[in-house]
Amino acid sequence: MFDVVVIGSGPAGYVSAIRASQLGLKTLCVEQSVDEKGKANLGGTCLNIGCIPSKALLDSSQRYYEASKNLGDHGIVVGDLKLDLKSMMKRKDDIVSKLTGGINGLFAANKVQSISGKGKVVSNNIVEVTKTDGSIENIETKNIILATGSKPIEIPSASFSRNIVDSTGALSFKNLPKTVGIVGAGIIGLELGSVWSRLGSEVTLIEALDDFLPMADPDISKESYREFINQGLDIKLGSKVIDTKELKNSVKVTYEQKGKKHEMEFEKLIVAVGRIPNSEEILSEDINIKIDKGFIEVNEFCQTSIQNIWAIGDLVRGPMLAHKGSEEGIMVAEKIANNHMQVNYDLVPSVIYTHPEIAWVGLNENELKAKGIKFKIGKFPFAASGRALAVDQSEGFVKVLTDIKTDTILGAHVFGPAAAEIVQQALISMEFGSSAEDIGLTMFSHPTVSEAFHEAALASNNQAIHIGNKRK
Ligand code: NAI
Repeated sequence: MFDVVVIGSGPAGYVSAIRASQLGLKTLCVEQSVDEKGKANLGGTCLNIGCIPSKALLDSSQRYYEASKNLGDHGIVVGDLKLDLKSMMKRKDDIVSKLTGGINGLFAANKVQSISGKGKVVSNNIVEVTKTDGSIENIETKNIILATGSKPIEIPSASFSRNIVDSTGALSFKNLPKTVGIVGAGIIGLELGSVWSRLGSEVTLIEALDDFLPMADPDISKESYREFINQGLDIKLGSKVIDTKELKNSVKVTYEQKGKKHEMEFEKLIVAVGRIPNSEEILSEDINIKIDKGFIEVNEFCQTSIQNIWAIGDLVRGPMLAHKGSEEGIMVAEKIANNHMQVNYDLVPSVIYTHPEIAWVGLNENELKAKGIKFKIGKFPFAASGRALAVDQSEGFVKVLTDIKTDTILGAHVFGPAAAEIVQQALISMEFGSSAEDIGLTMFSHPTVSEAFHEAALASNNQAIHIGNKRK
């Protein structure tokens, strides 16, 4: 009898299993994906086909782009520049293997057992595991944690086929496509669009909504849209894909914009219109847990209506982000061990790994206005940052939003160099209830791009040193 069986080994599941075992609970992790040797292939979407391989390609493609465009300004002359896509893909695959293999090591070190096969809850104490050879093993457990993640949404107007692919397919093109169409200008669309555009493909993003990145702060949406267009991404807003047709070596796409039909042809079409939870076939019919539009219903502690069955990560409400899933996994393990813990859902950071990066935490200007909260704005442009200029990344800004009465930081929004890292600083300050004045009184190293956060906090109180402030 196990104390905990975790179904799924993505960043939610494997982290939860490790913490459960650290707390002295006998833990097993079930994973359906197997490697060539028939061993459980741990790590889920994030490590195998998501965050990690995409970041590997984003880095490689940025280096290629810089070598082809900007190095001359630095006095570096590159001779015959050539793209070796095969080696680029191999580097990405090697990073993935290293990290997924690393989880095996972590499981061994933390005494987490793992089993390969498809897990299904057949009673509140039994997980049925169907192995690749078809055999079935029933595993008894006191607690079950569901962490089966999510998969790309497929739309009827663009069903996946040879040249119409999801994000996984778009991470392993064998040749450089001349033209790439992307349905959806969301996070995946922008990241993958950036990769292929930097390597030389002509990229068009077809986005149904009229607004660009509506979930981001309005200043970030506006400025990043302008920057991505400058970089050569063709972003068609208010454009809905209504039909696609596979031709011999391309895809014909029909989309509707302002009531008018348009046609375009692409070598490859990537569909990135969101993801849905993998909640089918993980509960037998008599398990009475509510599923709403694919999402397993849970309370604030990720507990389902059955007291010893929990669900975490992309399977449940909230943003589909690896770090959110991992924190939920830790919370559930602690709850099972009877410790108190909660996730602060108000401070889930978001990052879009474009160049420059986009990152934020807390509320944005639109959200503060909708809530009727009175706020101050402190904004500092990277164009005024010595370090940003020195590293040739002076686009964008840091924007800090603070409570007008208490000066507490309510949101931090960054478009620019190392945005993801700068936002972690804001996140820690906000967890500790920091005011903009606290950040203003903190000494930052010079020259760093982080100084832009310091200056933005100062700017919210009209005290920035390196930009003009409003004077009464
Ligand atoms: P998304 O929700 O970010 O963007 C999908 C976009 O497709 C939306 O803007 C939507 O309006 C548009 N769309 C939907 N149907 C359409 C149609 N028929 N025609 C044209 N446009 C259409 O979803 P995405 O990019 O697929 O990402 C999925 C999830 O993966 C997100 O929840 C994200 O949080 C997560 N993710 C996070 C990353 C990160 O943290 N850096 C990286 C990649 C994914």
